Amino acid sequence: EIHQREYLVNGEMKQWDGPVSEVYSPINIPTADGLKRKLIGTYPLTTEKEAFEALNAALSAYDNGRGEWPTMRLDERINCLSVFARKMTEQRTLIVKLIMWEIGKSFADSIKEFDRTIEYINATIDALKEIDRSSSRFEIKEGTIAQIRRSPLGVVLCMGPFNYPLNETFTTLIPALLMGNTILFKPPKHGTLVHYPLLRAFMESFPKGVVNTIYGRGAAVIPGIMATGKINVLAFIGSSKVANDLRKHHPKLNRLRAVLSLDAKNAAIITPHADIQVAVNECILGALSYNGQRCTAIKILFVHRSIADEFNARLGESISKMKFGMPWEKGVQLTPVAEPGKPAYIREVLDDAIAHGAAVVNENGGATNESFVFPAVVYPVNDKMTLYREEQFGPVIPVVPYDDIEETINYLIESPHGQQVSIFSNNPDEVAMLIDPLVNQVSRVNINSQCQRGPDVFPFTGRKDSAEGTLSVHDALRSFSIRSLVATKMNDTNKK
Ligand code: G3H
Repeated sequence: EIHQREYLVNGEMKQWDGPVSEVYSPINIPTADGLKRKLIGTYPLTTEKEAFEALNAALSAYDNGRGEWPTMRLDERINCLSVFARKMTEQRTLIVKLIMWEIGKSFADSIKEFDRTIEYINATIDALKEIDRSSSRFEIKEGTIAQIRRSPLGVVLCMGPFNYPLNETFTTLIPALLMGNTILFKPPKHGTLVHYPLLRAFMESFPKGVVNTIYGRGAAVIPGIMATGKINVLAFIGSSKVANDLRKHHPKLNRLRAVLSLDAKNAAIITPHADIQVAVNECILGALSYNGQRCTAIKILFVHRSIADEFNARLGESISKMKFGMPWEKGVQLTPVAEPGKPAYIREVLDDAIAHGAAVVNENGGATNESFVFPAVVYPVNDKMTLYREEQFGPVIPVVPYDDIEETINYLIESPHGQQVSIFSNNPDEVAMLIDPLVNQVSRVNINSQCQRGPDVFPFTGRKDSAEGTLSVHDALRSFSIRSLVATKMNDTNKK
């Protein structure tokens, strides 16, 4: 168990002696009262007062752009980050275990999350060097010589989601930091302890006040600091509702840049020309990796009516062979779901679908055992059902039969979301005909493959309510900076 008392503000590890929040793992362990979620630690429930301390530290480290960090040479900033990445790597074993216990991700996927984050840090450093090389190029136009730079924006508030507590938080925090901004960092409620081993690394790698942590309940600690109008960028990955709730406290929305990755309801379209087994395999990966708890997961399938029965049968058969188990078991594919309320929510959406005429068509679909939920294939889904529009964020696969491909495009047009879509078809003409209408609705079209964010160097964004700004590597560096220039007129004074 980890009982965290420390929080990092202004380069100091402060000790909290107030109330704490208990952290329960989604992994159940046998107790005298039956299976129970295991207590794995506590973290400080700091208050608005400590959030203000963190804000003030970030503001004074930024010092209106005159601070040590925003004015530091790029190579020196990169050195600080390299030191941090080294210290983080020393904590790999502990962090991987914490990811596994805190959010129930399989051990193999927890390792992937850690390693992918280190790769992301290295790729961001490389991209920054590239941007620096290209921005040190001078442009000469109409007697003016301009050096184009990338300059920081100020104080960035970074908040990440529970499903990738390390990786997704760092996809905003790292580029924001490297561009010379100072950081307020609030770890996700499920996934707080994952960051505990990094507090010291932050403290030892960066000048004081550059990275500051905030704990406590978001609704209690964030509105007040937002209302000061002193946060320049909100970098948030999570639900659209929470992002809007947080943002509305800022008094001057035109002064707040938002870099957001939010709700998504990614669709897969399986046409009569698809290789059904390829589609089944990819949809399983897309819909059920980490129990469907990914913003990039496939959350609804449109299957041509002529192949729907065969598709559903093969999908059910493949699901029945998936390995359920504890996250540390070798080859495990399905693990306990992270959020305590999720099994009940899944029961609710399944009941709603059944009440509106659908059925769970695979054996044991939707069966629960404490925090385990067996994947459910629901068919035929229609627009009366919650599952048709709501992002279930769990192991449920709604299948909608379609007759005309226009129905699928209309679904995307009407959807409030616009992150990704997958098309399954072996007919190149059909694929070619679909690409433009689809790519104009979402930000990524996957052909004969699942929806996903990676490779992480690719741009990652979404349309409509799914995102604002673009993440990845190059794009994220741009999102957390402004292009500025130093322009020198070639007159006699300047020539001297
Ligand atoms: O939850 C959203 C994550 O960014 C998903 O990343 O598609 O690589 O699993 P992934």
